[in-house]
Amino acid sequence: MRGIILAGGNGTRLHPATLAVSKQLLPVGDKPMIYYPLSVLMLAGIRDVLVITMPGDTPQFRRLLGDGSHLGLNITYARQDEPRGIAEAFLIGAGHVGADDVALVLGDNIFHGNAFSELLERESANLNGCTLFGYPVTDPERYGVGETDGEGRLVSIEEKPLRPRSNRAITGLYFYDNDVLELAKDLRPSARGELEITDLNHAYLKRGQARLVDLGRGFAWLDTGTPESLLQASMYVRTLEERQGVRIACIEEVALRMGYIGVEQCHRLGENIGKSAYGQYVMAIADELAA
Ligand code: DAU
Repeated sequence: MRGIILAGGNGTRLHPATLAVSKQLLPVGDKPMIYYPLSVLMLAGIRDVLVITMPGDTPQFRRLLGDGSHLGLNITYARQDEPRGIAEAFLIGAGHVGADDVALVLGDNIFHGNAFSELLERESANLNGCTLFGYPVTDPERYGVGETDGEGRLVSIEEKPLRPRSNRAITGLYFYDNDVLELAKDLRPSARGELEITDLNHAYLKRGQARLVDLGRGFAWLDTGTPESLLQASMYVRTLEERQGVRIACIEEVALRMGYIGVEQCHRLGENIGKSAYGQYVMAIADELAA
């Protein structure tokens, strides 16, 4: 399965913080936002990742993540000139996806939960059409909202409905089979001029091939769209990390635990940023697993 991180958009609700820096590079806790969605793809077993950014932002993302080889990954970059819709990722990323299945994750979505890797690997192995991930929220009208039958098959999906039919928001993580490339070509811009991800998901729904997997109570799915929610996400990450002594979305640790790199390489990566507590954590994890 190939991975795409969509990290474009103008981040207008975070201006002026995002006037000169891409939103997905802002810190959440002690690391750049994009580490969170990248770690989700890595936990799903994905090593080929395309990062889509606004044109001027690619150099900074490249400075941060390079070609990914230091993490045992293959990271490439593409540009989206304007935010013309989430589903445009499949037109921009068609060459990257090739004949494979694909996971798309929005660069501003933060997930955290127990046994997430097992869930992701299971769902990618059982993919038949599209698999979406739902999360209960108190304000579903702000999101894509899905409704399922008893077997997890999606029976309705609406984008930001005035009267939501359920409280299950569709999160910004999507698994698709290769048909997504053809289906994306057939999409027409919505009233707001975007190629809507919800329209794409609806095409799978019509085929009876859309599944919604619930991320239960044990999961956190955090918003980073406004200064308040960004601060809350940072507080959440910091509280958990301080309390448990583990780090969320430490991509070096994920690479090590997934077997993408060895302990020596992990240690080196920690040393490179060894003046920070994050770097020291990476070295400590390498030492622990080497012992
Ligand atoms: O976060 C989950 C929600 O994301 C879903 O529940 C909705 O169904 C989905 O439409 C989307 O809703 P948002 O209102 O959050 O979409 P937004 O336009 O804010 O875009 C989400 C992220 O994707 C944002 O960080 C910017 C990036 N993006 C968005 C568009 C439209 C791009 O990189 N390019 C784009 O063209």
